Amino acid sequence: MDIRELDVTDPSARRAWYDVMERAARADRPHALLEGFDAFEVTATEPGEYAERVRLEARDGGEVVGVAELELPLTENLDVGWCDVNVVPEERRRGIGRALLEVVAGRARNAGRSRLGGEVNVDPHGSRAGLEFALAIGAEEKHREDHLVADLPIEPAPVDPAYEVVTWRGRCPDEHREAYLAMRNQMNADVPTGQLDLEATVLYDARLASSEERLARSYDVRVAAARRRTDGAFGGYSLLFVPHGADYGWQDDTLVMPEHRGHRLGGAMKTTNYADLPEHIGLVHTWTAPSNTAMHHTNTALGFQVVEHMYEMEASI
Ligand SMILES: CC(C)(COP(=O)(O)OP(=O)(O)OC[C@H]1O[C@@H](n2cnc3c(N)ncnc32)[C@H](O)[C@@H]1OP(=O)(O)O)[C@@H](O)C(=O)NCCC(=O)NCCS
Repeated sequence: MDIRELDVTDPSARRAWYDVMERAARADRPHALLEGFDAFEVTATEPGEYAERVRLEARDGGEVVGVAELELPLTENLDVGWCDVNVVPEERRRGIGRALLEVVAGRARNAGRSRLGGEVNVDPHGSRAGLEFALAIGAEEKHREDHLVADLPIEPAPVDPAYEVVTWRGRCPDEHREAYLAMRNQMNADVPTGQLDLEATVLYDARLASSEERLARSYDVRVAAARRRTDGAFGGYSLLFVPHGADYGWQDDTLVMPEHRGHRLGGAMKTTNYADLPEHIGLVHTWTAPSNTAMHHTNTALGFQVVEHMYEMEASI
């Protein structure tokens, strides 16, 4: 078995790498939500300026049997590397995962990182291999979230009459950008991250524009924002991604600004986005910390059900 870096200039090598990642990740997880091939192609062939990614592959007799990815943030959290390791089911418990992880840790250390973080998703009725592996390599649990899904359509929740919901797709219109950036930064500062010791990402106009432009290549990005009628102040936003060609959506951030809480705006913004989706979109995924009582309650009231537990693990390297 040898481990080498993926040659990102070779389309068939990229396809093989992605297929192994997908097959390994789906083996134990019927509800897995994975980055689609389109989105993978964008990050593999046109790296962004805010993170560097290293992709490794383990080969046995010429066949790719395991893959790993290391993401190195370049503007904040410069002591951290994010990693993901996947080994095809028939080749597990032969030390391939550990060997990949050692190369990942070496590359992270060379880039000045002192800790490795990673997400492990566990199906309550499936294998706990990912979690057992993370514990075996010395990682500790730092934060936990539930992965929930809901079938569409979902009955739209009423909007408090003191507010109106404004929507857009793709790039945020110029007239809302300042308010939207303030809310995105509030979200990054407020989102519960348990024991994870991380600097919040700070978004400014150019960074938001770069992310909007890159995301648009693989996703239909939909935003619903609540605006108070009396003074036009924005009270919150909800962000939904629909991968191109997919029949599901992925609920990302939902924030209600502190002085606007208590008006049930979260459910109203989310369901406004769902109601606007084309009919063939039949499922929405989301993640919420079980300790985030308000959002968990909003989600279960809308019909979301827990399908996986997600553990944020971290190891010193
Ligand atoms: C997690 C995963 C990468 C492990 O790959 P692997 O090649 O089987 O790992 P290794 O053989 O190097 O195992 C290293 C140690 O992890 C632990 N471990 C791995 N799988 C385990 C399992 N199913 N049950 C209990 N312990 C396990 C053991 O301590 C093992 O050492 P041992 O075999 O000497 O007892 C693989 O199961 C996988 O791809 N799972 C799906 C993706 C995932 O969850 N990745 C983790 C996110 S980073």
